[in-house]
This record gives sequence, C-alpha cells and structure tokens, in this order.
Amino acid sequence: MDAERIRAGLRTAWAGREIVCMDEVDSTNREARRLAAQGAAHGTLVLADAQRAGRGRRGRGWISPAGEGIFMTLILRPEGAPARMAKLSLATALAAARAIGEETGLDARIKWPNDIVIGGRKVCGILLEMDAGDGCVRSVVAGVGINVHQTAFDPEIAQTASSLDLLSGRRQSREAIVRAFLTAFEAATAMEEGAMMRDYCACSATIGQRVQVIGLTQTFTGTAEGVTDSGALLVTDERGERHEVLAADVSVRGVMGYV
Ligand code: BTN
Repeated sequence: MDAERIRAGLRTAWAGREIVCMDEVDSTNREARRLAAQGAAHGTLVLADAQRAGRGRRGRGWISPAGEGIFMTLILRPEGAPARMAKLSLATALAAARAIGEETGLDARIKWPNDIVIGGRKVCGILLEMDAGDGCVRSVVAGVGINVHQTAFDPEIAQTASSLDLLSGRRQSREAIVRAFLTAFEAATAMEEGAMMRDYCACSATIGQRVQVIGLTQTFTGTAEGVTDSGALLVTDERGERHEVLAADVSVRGVMGYV
C-alpha cells in the first residue's frame, strides 16, 4: 500500500487528506484511537498492510494477513450527541458498498447493520468505536476491513467469506478502492439524513428478506421491514408483532443461510 498512490487523484475536501500508512500494526482502530487522543485531524486515514490483532464486532478478531486486504480506519470528529453516531455506521457501510461496487462492477450489498456482501458472501466488515464523555463525542474511529486478494479463509468463515479478486476473477487495486471509499464516505456524510437512509435501504441485502434474529435470550424469525433513524432493524415476526432490534443485542441471518 502506498499513500502517495492513494493521494494521486484523490479529490476529497477532508477525508484522507492526512494518511498514516504502516507496514504492520496491532489494529488500525487502536492506532487511530491513539492518534485521535493525540489530536489527529478529522478525516485522518490510518492504513496498515497487516494487523497483528485486528478487531471485529462482538469481541471477535479480524484476520489480517500482509498484502491481502485493506485494513483502514478513518478518524472522525463529528458534531452532535452520541445517539447520532448510528448514522455514521450506516454511512460507512453505504460508502464501502458503493466503493466496492464502483471499482469491481459487482453487486455489493449491505447486510444489516454494516457487513458488505456480494452474492451471499461477506467481503467487508466495519467496526466503529467512539470516544465520548459528558454527553459529547470527542472522536469516532470508523474501521473498515476489505478482503481483496485472499484466496483462502479460515475454516470458521470459509463458507461465508470471499474476496474481491475471487468474485471478480481479476486482480483489484487496493489503492483505487481506498480512494473510492474516501470519496463515497465524504459524499454519504454530506447527504441529507433522509436521503442517506433511503440510499442505505436501496443497497440493503437484508430489508425485504425473511430473517432469523438470534438474541441472547430469544430467537425468532420474521421479515426485515426497514431501519429506524437510530439504526435499529425493524422486524415483523410471524404473529405480526413488530420488533426494533439493535446490532449490539442480536445477530441476524437470512432464514436460508448467512444473508
Ligand atoms: C466485523 O467483525 O465484521 C468488523 C471487522 C472490522 C475489521 C477492520 S480491519 C481495519 C479496522 N481495524 C480493526 O482492528 N478492525 C477494523
């Protein structure tokens, strides 16, 4: 990964104007939080060729072999209360889906809340972390991991994951995808909220599908109807009862499989 090659042709106003590029790090999210605490500017991008301890959602890891994927985190200093941060998570997913779709020509869709899937396979995961206190947000780091050149996966994810090279049948450019993501992220966060949510829903692989909602205490099936302003998934169960499910509390799968 070469920061100069990413900067060449980057037309954003603030996203990725500063790029910190490393061969290896524990986690770009962790590094971004360290840099944010030291005052790094809004829009600073932290990129690594490999991560020793990549972090995934729900306490899982993210396997990050050198040279194979995109491991990046954007430092944000958003205005507004912590409750508004759900929108940033959805905007990050929309930007990642758009960037992947534009660069590969593949139909990249969002599996709620923010996995990117192509043909039922996960190619990208997103992890936002917030540093907040006294009702205000000091910084948010938006971490994005994209499987680009991988040709094999660990047994636990081999049935559900894939890479952009495998799905497109050609070698993709990591730099071009990073650039497209930065451009799409800036555009998504500049959109009026209703329009961004409409675009998110139009790009969703989950909405309109029969899903299984797996919670800590209960599991049920229903139809995913939409997403609320706070990012919760609206699911109508088989008795016609409507549920607002939160990403922190449940995992959602299609009734026929992963999506
Ligand atoms: C998921 O579990 O789906 C989210 C995975 C997020 C992985 C990315 S890779 C770049 C950034 N740094 C991390 O440690 N995690 C995120």
